[in-house]
Amino acid sequence: MGGGALFFYLSAQLRAQGKTAYLSDVNPELVNVYQCVRDRVEDLIQQLNAHQADHCETHYYSVRSQQPTDPVQKAARFIYLNKTCYNGLYRENSKGFFNVPIGRYKSPKICAPDLLRPASAALQIAEISTRPFSTVLARATTPQDFVYFDPPYHPLSDTSKFTAYSRYSFAEPQQTALKEAIAQLAQQKVKVLASNSDCAFIRELYSGFDIKTITAARSINSKASKRGKITEVLIIA
Ligand SMILES: C[S@@+](CC[C@H](N)C(=O)[O-])C[C@H]1O[C@@H](n2cnc3c(N)ncnc32)[C@H](O)[C@@H]1O
Repeated sequence: MGGGALFFYLSAQLRAQGKTAYLSDVNPELVNVYQCVRDRVEDLIQQLNAHQADHCETHYYSVRSQQPTDPVQKAARFIYLNKTCYNGLYRENSKGFFNVPIGRYKSPKICAPDLLRPASAALQIAEISTRPFSTVLARATTPQDFVYFDPPYHPLSDTSKFTAYSRYSFAEPQQTALKEAIAQLAQQKVKVLASNSDCAFIRELYSGFDIKTITAARSINSKASKRGKITEVLIIA
């Protein structure tokens, strides 16, 4: 799911057609955010407004060190840290604790009710669950199904291996397993779209597939000089 951008783009059309969307990700913290936006958006807005009012360096590190158990508090903590941390990164240490330092933002927008309420309305047609991508094989089985996979992108260089820091690491064996799942879905005539970075490994892995090259704006890069337009690939099966 990640940012869920394709779902939000399609949601009005899906709703008009009476369709259900199945959104999933292996990160339970992220899944909880989407479930709270869908089911408890007003409670979430209230808590985000409180974080907005309290935001400062001390508050950031205090919130970062907490482990709330209430789902709305957990979701508000996730969004607060995402909006105020360095470069909006999500990274955990080996014990599974979020460890990104505070970012340098003058006045970060922590609560955006004008975005959260429409997102909540759009998510009413979505079933949202914590699952690995491999479980999609059991759910998408007919040519009427369409699956979009937005996996952690294969790193372009050894120094950009964000994917290795997380307990949800996504190295070459996982990329290969995803390709095999896509091939199996394609055999069942399920329509599949996948995105990834434009690199030799990914082009080789998907050499038998229809690959489109697109340009995309990249905002997460530690070097300001490397932010800007890059190419990515869309794999169609
Ligand atoms: C590249 S991100 C998507 C980013 C999104 N495009 C955005 O702009 O925010 C990839 C997502 O895949 C999830 N993920 C990692 N391993 C997974 C797995 N085995 N099964 C399902 N999701 C996984 C991560 O938790 C992450 O949210």
